[in-house]
Amino acid sequence: MNDAIKKEAQRLQKELTEHSHRYHVMDDPLISDIEYDDMLKKLIEIEENFPQFSTPDSPTKRVGAPPLSAFNQAIHSIPMLSLDNAFNNEDVLDFNTRIVKILNRENIFYVAEPKLDGVAVELKYENGTLVQATTRGDGITGEVITENVKTIRSVPLKLHREKFKVPSLLEVRGEVIITKPDFDLLNKTRIDNGESVFANPRNAAAGSLRQLDSKITAKRPLDIFVYGAGEVKDLSFKSHSQMLNMMKQLGFPVNPHIKAGLSIEGVLTFYKKLEVLRDSLAYEIDGMVIKVDDILLQRQLGEKSKSPRWAIAYKFPAIRKSTRIKDIIVQVGRTGTLTPVAILESINIGGVMVSRATLHNEDLIKKKDIRIGDMVLVIRAGDVIPKVVKVIESKRKGNEIPFEMPLHCPVCHSRLVKVKLDITHVHKCINTSCQAQLKERIRHFVSKKAFDIEGLGKKIVDQLVEEKMIQSFADVFLLEKEKLAKLDRMAQKSAFNLVRAIEKSKTCSLRRFIYALGIDHTGENAAKLISERFSALKDIMDADKENLVSIHGIGPETASAVCQFFSNMENLNIISKIINEGGVKLTNDKPSRVESWDNPFNKRRIVLTGTLLTMTRSEAKKILEKLGAGITSSLSSKTDFLIAGNKPGSKFAKAKKLGIQILDEKSLTAMLKSHL
Ligand code: IVH
Repeated sequence: MNDAIKKEAQRLQKELTEHSHRYHVMDDPLISDIEYDDMLKKLIEIEENFPQFSTPDSPTKRVGAPPLSAFNQAIHSIPMLSLDNAFNNEDVLDFNTRIVKILNRENIFYVAEPKLDGVAVELKYENGTLVQATTRGDGITGEVITENVKTIRSVPLKLHREKFKVPSLLEVRGEVIITKPDFDLLNKTRIDNGESVFANPRNAAAGSLRQLDSKITAKRPLDIFVYGAGEVKDLSFKSHSQMLNMMKQLGFPVNPHIKAGLSIEGVLTFYKKLEVLRDSLAYEIDGMVIKVDDILLQRQLGEKSKSPRWAIAYKFPAIRKSTRIKDIIVQVGRTGTLTPVAILESINIGGVMVSRATLHNEDLIKKKDIRIGDMVLVIRAGDVIPKVVKVIESKRKGNEIPFEMPLHCPVCHSRLVKVKLDITHVHKCINTSCQAQLKERIRHFVSKKAFDIEGLGKKIVDQLVEEKMIQSFADVFLLEKEKLAKLDRMAQKSAFNLVRAIEKSKTCSLRRFIYALGIDHTGENAAKLISERFSALKDIMDADKENLVSIHGIGPETASAVCQFFSNMENLNIISKIINEGGVKLTNDKPSRVESWDNPFNKRRIVLTGTLLTMTRSEAKKILEKLGAGITSSLSSKTDFLIAGNKPGSKFAKAKKLGIQILDEKSLTAMLKSHL
């Protein structure tokens, strides 16, 4: 019997040590907080009942993970303790009972504070100046991160001295955090820069504080709330709440949702309020910390090896849990983007039943190697859609099925395209008649800068799509007055006006038509440039990517999107229906003045080099662009002309070697004269 218990204790000690290392040092947990806490609770119970199985290095004796070795280390003058956890009201009432018993007095006053989900730090002020900042480390020794902490704007470098004589020593403790909006922005910028994203604000704060180069830390949106003191000289306070007030006056940010003067019942009521408040806060909190307010009573209660007897953390229900992926489906968004979604075995995460979680895109599924049948860690942060954090590979059985993105849209069965978005790829359905996108597409199609059909507002469009009177762009031009008049809220007169507006819109410029199609990356300007280059819709439909990128101002994304759009069979059918059945007539956009002349620079790729005498290089560039040329900086076999001024350098030799036509300034000005 004892043998089995010993084995179990050893197993828990080993596993918890490993998980604690992954969580605290690697920022890469394998199990949920609740699972960790459950295991720890089990081990504490065993070690309390069988002290012979408790070892000096058991995780129950540890406050955290060891500090990283790259920073200098400093010993905390007073250890930075951890907190015991309470998971329900009963645990909190037990905590109070213990205190009442030890102190032999009733009616203890408590302070309740949000438990901030960030990184604990200690700031040391000597004669009012910040001289050192440290992480908690293992509670005894921390890493010295002074330069990094100094970059946090809300940390005072000097104490405010209006109210107090400056203490010769003050150690302040608090939590460094990143707010949710700042975190979102930080990750967005990281995506734009092709960097990996942080899993949550706490990891982002920890990673930012752990930079060896404080210039990097300075760019991170770190913030702080202080909640305690270490060693203090020349300053005294009778209660925790009085100390917090002093901290405020000394210039430290103190959380505004701290409540003092609470009975134990008051503490429980406040917990409920904080739970409600939680999602509306700009930063993440994972529970509430309950502290005995009176400092003398705190001293009387004292500490255990890793935590004080006068405080406890009442944790919120975990927001991460593990469950199994039953299936992976694909959803089509309003703009045609496909999102793979995991169908989960339902679980309760923080009071909400979760049965689906977004998997974002195919790249992410591949990166995390997520398969159907996998046990996964799911996180729910506030109102946000639940996310699959990672696969718990140790639970793999071998019969899990890798996921394949479908080739066709699950809604309209049109063939999908794969496009690059920032650093990832997404699959898109580009069929303009796809039901999942139709409302959005039609709204754009009839909008002011497109077909500009007055009377076809959002509500009417939604109604027409819902009634199936519009199932594609072409149907807009086939609406009949009699049918329209039967719609809710549509009078005879407005039906008549609408039909008239539709008739009027049927004569449309090529530019507006291209814009109306809602091709990816093709806004007003791109539509203008494309329609100016090609005089007929047919030519645009036939253009290849090369033709399109040769237009100055058209990038490779737009060129690809246009080609893909016109290779989609459904789209080609609808365009033909718009023109043949809908009676839409496309007018030629007025060609720009220079393009109608036959000038030698139109549609040419030109490189400029050397110094020009009669104009600056940027003037030459402007003139040539007006004439339809595309100016590039690098020379290749695709270049049509090299315009060489004085001291042309290596490009001159390269152009000769490639057999590219070279124009000197004289020939250039002569040619320009005859064409301007
Ligand atoms: S008091 C002995 N107050 O929770 C008192 N801690 O599990 C210990 N924390 O390391 C700290 N918000 O990182 C305290 N209002 C708060 C807190 C808080 C977050 C963190 C802190 C500490 C951990 C203890």
